[in-house]
Amino acid sequence: MYLNRTHFNSLLRTASSKVTSQSVVRLAAIRAQLNPSPISLFSHQTRTMSIPTTMKAVVVEKLGGPEVLEFRSDQPVPTPQEGQLLVKNNISGVNYIDTYFRTGLYPSSKPEILGREGAGTVVALGPGSNPYNFKIGDRVAWLTTSGYAEYTAVPAVKAVKIPDEITDEDAIAGFLSGLTVITLAKETYAVQKGDWVLLHAAAGGAGFLMTQVLKSLGAKVIGTAGGPEKVALVKSLGADVVIDYRSEEGKDWVKKVKEATDGRGVDVVYDSVGKDTWEGSLEAVKRKGTIVWFGNASGPVPPLPLAKLSPKCVKVARPTLFGYIETREEFEFYVNELFALLKSGQLKVKIHNIYPLEQVIQAHTDLEGRKTTGKLLLKP
Ligand SMILES: NC(=O)c1ccc[n+]([C@@H]2O[C@H](COP(=O)([O-])OP(=O)(O)OC[C@H]3O[C@@H](n4cnc5c(N)ncnc54)[C@H](OP(=O)(O)O)[C@@H]3O)[C@@H](O)[C@H]2O)c1
Repeated sequence: MYLNRTHFNSLLRTASSKVTSQSVVRLAAIRAQLNPSPISLFSHQTRTMSIPTTMKAVVVEKLGGPEVLEFRSDQPVPTPQEGQLLVKNNISGVNYIDTYFRTGLYPSSKPEILGREGAGTVVALGPGSNPYNFKIGDRVAWLTTSGYAEYTAVPAVKAVKIPDEITDEDAIAGFLSGLTVITLAKETYAVQKGDWVLLHAAAGGAGFLMTQVLKSLGAKVIGTAGGPEKVALVKSLGADVVIDYRSEEGKDWVKKVKEATDGRGVDVVYDSVGKDTWEGSLEAVKRKGTIVWFGNASGPVPPLPLAKLSPKCVKVARPTLFGYIETREEFEFYVNELFALLKSGQLKVKIHNIYPLEQVIQAHTDLEGRKTTGKLLLKP
């Protein structure tokens, strides 16, 4: 339906005297599409909410290195469609997967606003039903696309309210990464007390959380990390053995894993490094052991001849978080577990840095340069 501005303004005047603030904000979202100037909404004369028509965002038009990340301040604010929320992001997460979409390792259509997670305030609801009872002003964490932006239209089914005890920053430092490591340790391979586990990149965004989850499950953890500072960090989390796989001494990390496990090898390897470690991981796993490849920080694992698995009867998994949280039930189940761990302090987050959105190139450069520990965040 086409609405001209006069018609729209009269609709809004009538509506504001009769309907809920949520409906007014929905109408305002439509108005944002018609109006070039920012709008102010008055709900019962007590609260003013303004949704501009343009926003800051990071856009990728072509594949390449960090330099293809374009910071722009003239991107249209999205209009929430049926089943969506419009979230004003307070913080967005930077994940290694963002680099895969930037380089083209994982396909996605371009131009694209990168970013798979964020936290902020619900400022508008799309039309239609509201099965999860979100309200304007709710503080939410979400998983979808287009997070490197001031505003994101988020499917409500992929958003959750953040408990009061958890800040937006801590929620996102633990959100995509924390959900991933919990699913890896509980579903991909159910870690048992006493299991020997080899975890690569143990000081990274996912690794920092995974080390803690593995220790809490009673595993004996062998972590790898690049450089003495990272090694010290992983040790401080209670890892049993930590190997600096970039040092001269740690280069033969497979031998060290064998020594630590009396020649047996580990029950499970969690390998997100990929190209540089996959062969060693295959050597370091025990007979009847499991290898979980869940990332490609150094490049993808090449096509694997299945015959390589038979001498030790090895099982291989190649999971992704999104496959474990497809339904609302699954998503809520793991989010509840994560938030309980964060609230109780059993799981601690580490924020490497909060970069202003304008400095996104630096964030990607640092992440791929192996200069970071814990999680990188962007402030839109
Ligand atoms: N499957 C899933 O659902 C899922 C979900 C989340 C994350 N992941 C994967 O988990 C991994 C970690 O993600 P993250 O966002 O938390 O990143 P991150 O661990 O903070 O950063 C990647 C780390 O990988 C290590 N690394 C080893 N070789 C590298 C190389 N050639 N270039 C760059 N880094 C290298 C570096 O640690 P060192 O210097 O210590 O080696 C680096 O800090 C990624 O592979 C990601 O794709 C998968």
